[in-house]
Amino acid sequence: MTRVPASPTTLLTGVGELVTNDQTLGDGSPLGLLHDAALVVADGRVAWVGPASAAPPADRRRDLGGRALLPGFVDSHTHLVFAGDRSAEFVARTTGARYDGGGIATTVTATRAADDATLRRLLAARVAEARRQGSTTLEVKSGYGLDVAHEARLLRLAREVTEETTYLGAHVVPAGADHDDYVALAAGTMLAACAPHARWADVFCEPASAHAFDADEARTVLLAAGAAGLGLRVHGNQLAPGPGVRLAVELRAASVDHCTYLDADDVDALAGSDTVATLLPGVEFSTGHPYPDARRLLDAGVVVALATDCNPGTSNTSSVPFVVALAVRECGLTPAEAVHAATAGAARALRRDDVGVLRVGSCAHLAVLDAPSYVHLAYRPGVPLARGLVL
Ligand code: NIG
Ligand code: FE
Repeated sequence: MTRVPASPTTLLTGVGELVTNDQTLGDGSPLGLLHDAALVVADGRVAWVGPASAAPPADRRRDLGGRALLPGFVDSHTHLVFAGDRSAEFVARTTGARYDGGGIATTVTATRAADDATLRRLLAARVAEARRQGSTTLEVKSGYGLDVAHEARLLRLAREVTEETTYLGAHVVPAGADHDDYVALAAGTMLAACAPHARWADVFCEPASAHAFDADEARTVLLAAGAAGLGLRVHGNQLAPGPGVRLAVELRAASVDHCTYLDADDVDALAGSDTVATLLPGVEFSTGHPYPDARRLLDAGVVVALATDCNPGTSNTSSVPFVVALAVRECGLTPAEAVHAATAGAARALRRDDVGVLRVGSCAHLAVLDAPSYVHLAYRPGVPLARGLVL
């Protein structure tokens, strides 16, 4: 009888600081910190975690030389499938122009004009760039196609790089289209063509923008998407106070993203819900709006996630470390809270319990830091310390 050899096990040792995000491990804090730690990986999963002095033998050994090791960053909100450049819009904002979503049309034109090979190449480069900065799980939205064939095409391409794909046909109303007709299309034929390629559906619910959708329109699309088996997400309260957060809670969406302009009712609604508040401070860095108040949300008991929102209009960065640093200085989080939000919090936003954490059975998705502690992500902003590792 032939024996199937077990796949080789790998021992990562010399881990100066290990963030597990499991409170039962390590120091008992939410980060579940261990020092002088080791981790064994088998078949792509964590098989053992604990003090280096008690590490079991393994087939291979990698010494991290005292570096910090974290769960790989979970970037739970990106728009990575696009072509073109909107740096001129960014420059205009530095002298007072306001963002209103109107520039999305520029990206739609460039993206429709790009063939599959071009979009694949651009997407692969962005995924690699994110990985080099520690991200190991990426959510990717459509939203720059805005007709049936192009939205389905963008999701098909996104599906080639991640399972966390999001249908965002209701991003804005495309030039020349009637608002009501477009909502019917996004909730009907377009949804039917896109649903086979998507896990999630999202809408840009922002009555303050003439291009985006009000609560009733957003509800129409999201209810249809939920009926088609998709999980729900919302872009809400980005540009002004509005109904996005309360709609997300009403529909039990997994996440409401931006949360820049919140009133007390929004915070209470989130606190009594399963909906994660995903903050995207790379957007406020680029648009000049005030940063979201993460402190207020955490103090109210809301689960907070951090993500990049990588897109050509409002946040052209794939760097979760940059976002962590912003959240610490501008949104009122401690380094520990920001790192937790970019890993465990973002995993919650995707309703995943196999990433964003390092315990026995988790995916071996890691971020290795060229630094002794996670604190350095905020303490040394702009320095390329993190590297994603999928074993
Ligand atoms: O999350 N607000 C809507 N969508 C994106 C921006 C898209 C764009 O301007 O290209 C966002 O900020
Ligand atoms: Fe977005």
